[in-house]
Amino acid sequence: MRPDAPQPIRLADYTPPAWRAETVRLVFDLAPRGAKVHAKIRFIRGEGPEGPLRLDGQKLMLMAAKLDGRDVFHDVALDADGLTLAGPLPDAFDLETTVEIDPEANTELEGLYLSNGIYCTQCEAEGFRKITYFPDRPDVMATYSVRIEAPASTPVLLSNGEPGEAGALPDGRLFAEWHDPWPKPSYLFALVAGNLVAHRDRFTTASGRAVDLGIWVRPGDESRCEYAMDALKRSMRWDEEAYGREYDLSVFNIVAVDDFNMGAMENKGLNIFNSKYVLASPETAGDRDYELIEGIIAHEYFHNWTGNRITCRDWFQLCLKEGLTVFRDQQFSADMRSEPVKRIDDVKMLRARQFREDAGPLAHPVRPEQFIEINNFYTATVYEKGAELIRMLHLMVGPKAYRQALDLYFERHDGQACTIEQWLDVFQTVTNRDLTQFKLWYSQAGTPRVTVSEGWKPGKYTLTLRQDVPSTPGAPSKKPMAIPVAFGLLGQGGRELVEPGVLELTEPEQTWTFDLDERPVPSLLRGFSAPVILDRRSTAAERAFLLAHDSDPFNRWEAARAMALEALMGAEPVAPFAEALRLAIADADLDPAFRALLLTLPGDDELARETWARGRQADPDAIHAASETAKAALAEALEPELRALYTAMESPGPYSPDAAAAGRRALRNACLGLLSRRPVGPSLAEAQAKAPSMSERLPALAALLHAGAPAAEPALAAFAEEWKADPLVMDKWYLLQATTPREGTLARVKTLSEDPSFAWKTPNRFRSLVAAFSTNHFCFHAADGSGYRFLADWLLKLDPLNPQTAARVAGAFETWRRYDDARQSLIRAELERIARAPALSRDLTEIVTRMLG
Ligand code: PHE
Ligand code: ZN
Repeated sequence: MRPDAPQPIRLADYTPPAWRAETVRLVFDLAPRGAKVHAKIRFIRGEGPEGPLRLDGQKLMLMAAKLDGRDVFHDVALDADGLTLAGPLPDAFDLETTVEIDPEANTELEGLYLSNGIYCTQCEAEGFRKITYFPDRPDVMATYSVRIEAPASTPVLLSNGEPGEAGALPDGRLFAEWHDPWPKPSYLFALVAGNLVAHRDRFTTASGRAVDLGIWVRPGDESRCEYAMDALKRSMRWDEEAYGREYDLSVFNIVAVDDFNMGAMENKGLNIFNSKYVLASPETAGDRDYELIEGIIAHEYFHNWTGNRITCRDWFQLCLKEGLTVFRDQQFSADMRSEPVKRIDDVKMLRARQFREDAGPLAHPVRPEQFIEINNFYTATVYEKGAELIRMLHLMVGPKAYRQALDLYFERHDGQACTIEQWLDVFQTVTNRDLTQFKLWYSQAGTPRVTVSEGWKPGKYTLTLRQDVPSTPGAPSKKPMAIPVAFGLLGQGGRELVEPGVLELTEPEQTWTFDLDERPVPSLLRGFSAPVILDRRSTAAERAFLLAHDSDPFNRWEAARAMALEALMGAEPVAPFAEALRLAIADADLDPAFRALLLTLPGDDELARETWARGRQADPDAIHAASETAKAALAEALEPELRALYTAMESPGPYSPDAAAAGRRALRNACLGLLSRRPVGPSLAEAQAKAPSMSERLPALAALLHAGAPAAEPALAAFAEEWKADPLVMDKWYLLQATTPREGTLARVKTLSEDPSFAWKTPNRFRSLVAAFSTNHFCFHAADGSGYRFLADWLLKLDPLNPQTAARVAGAFETWRRYDDARQSLIRAELERIARAPALSRDLTEIVTRMLG
């Protein structure tokens, strides 16, 4: 640790604020440099220990300060992180400050910045302190009124809440007023000023309130907002129907910006989005983009109640809003599309990102107990595992009690900044259940392993479950958790021998006994009822049986995945898996989207995780070779069926983004993926690459690249020529190349990254090339360390400009202990090189230090 190393902030040290802000009046005079922010804040004493007024502030130039109209400019003490005003202070007073800030120089994309000529803000988690001096913590909730003055070149002026007066000033500049009646924490403040056009619509709430909806984009993009608008209206209706939650303002605006560190932000009444998650047309966006747009629009909208009306007391409670809101958006997408397909997709993501995190040096509880940089805790654990905890509660108490608990949550805590204790207490009140043990899910990191053993003697079947919670950094020993295991017992032909139910595993080991006439095949952890690793030695025959007969679609898929893992790791022959797949993919009763999932085989990263979980070091070259061989054999065995399906799934009409049409395309593209390993592949792909929709073109291009087909290069060049003016489409072009698992990819990626046209300061572009390359398992883990060096070089280059994104992308190294000693020492050397860099950001320092552990 360096002598100046920042100290961690701890949950245990929480104290309420000494001063609360009640009302905030902000006046912005916008300019790229020297923008002026005038703030008038009404302060009252809080419950916290008495003390001076301490306000957060960073990179602000203080020009004036007044207390109740009296000049206090010379009384405030300034430092790099804020200002202090010593007493004696009255119990309530107005503080006025004027600061200057430089949006143009803001490359961190936190606070007020410029993106392609658009002024916009990002305040979560601690960005408001880069706009004005304020107690920048979520338990300080105030009402805001805002005035924006800006040059005529940025005529659209937006902020939170309801619009007020607007017009022109005598000097030709423009102004607009906004007032937000709902008290909110500073992280939900937002402002936008730009030359924007709106895609408008209207929504009438269940109680009859008319809401003006606007999606604001750069001129020319307004035709690509239709799907996002449709998703927004469906989200608003769904939240009324599923949760009884109505929208609470007369306007709801969304703005799309090109430079954004994350996906989107739920600012009150003014959501700001990464343009990637708003703009879509059939020619420019793929099915997966449409799905993400729908899910993220819903997610941000749902935050209006879970996050905004009820917010977090402190950042340790981040999962209070994120876990719940992710769960809600998952429910919404399941309702809009296919529930099992959505569940399988979510579990794939959970395993790929969260299980990986939970098993490595960055593991942390869903509610962390300390942090150095809060931006480093917007993680798969807080979000996705956080959502799994809500899903378990939902399963354990049932949908009716769940709804009652949520109603009580909104009734009790509307307008408050809350904790996980308060969240769990509504469930305790409604159900009378003691959730003490369940609460361990919030404090114990690591993925529990549940080991299954069975006993059978005619008439009696016993099922024993044992749980082990692994140690994680800083937490060597764990207590047994409450794990709901949804199950069924299947007899011949797939008949359910008992009423399917839920076993609640609460002890280190428990046994259940069933009186049965035939020995069952158990179907365990149905629907993935808990975020655990289920360890059951099963035979190939049992897996094929479950794939064919389980009434739980998740476990049917799970059986196929287990077979795929064995085949791809070379542990079992390919033939039985091919036979099981042959039957399943030809089953016309199965949803095409579901069949597509059966055909999408585990990637190298998953195989490496599995290898390591089985106690062996992962060798990326060997993994790649074995899995490529198995995939080729599978493609050969199934070629006739794949070709038939490929033809049968051809779209009959023009592109439609709906789930059924997307499912057919997904199945067709999954067939193409395998067929690209056959001689027929390139010609199919070449033809499909000329299709009008991006959902067809992109997978076709990927297949050509993957096969190393001669047609790949001209197709890539034609694609770039056609889309060079469209950054979102070009991101796909970069990503395609960066993720191709072939020799030579790194050389190509390097060439692309050195080209002056590579706009690496835009996070989307950086991610589409550099971060995307780090997910290319085969190339990133090249034995000579060239992939590691490439990533480290780029992290060092990005860090001074955008530490948040650099730290996030650095997570590519979190799996380093999985690999052979030679690779481990190469990665360690890169991590140490990063750690030694002068003036490394707090964000990257924390991540690298934890990874080096
Ligand atoms: N709160 C945002 C979301 O989940 C994510 C976000 C965090 C965006 C921090 C920007 C900065 O929905
Ligand atoms: Zn969120």
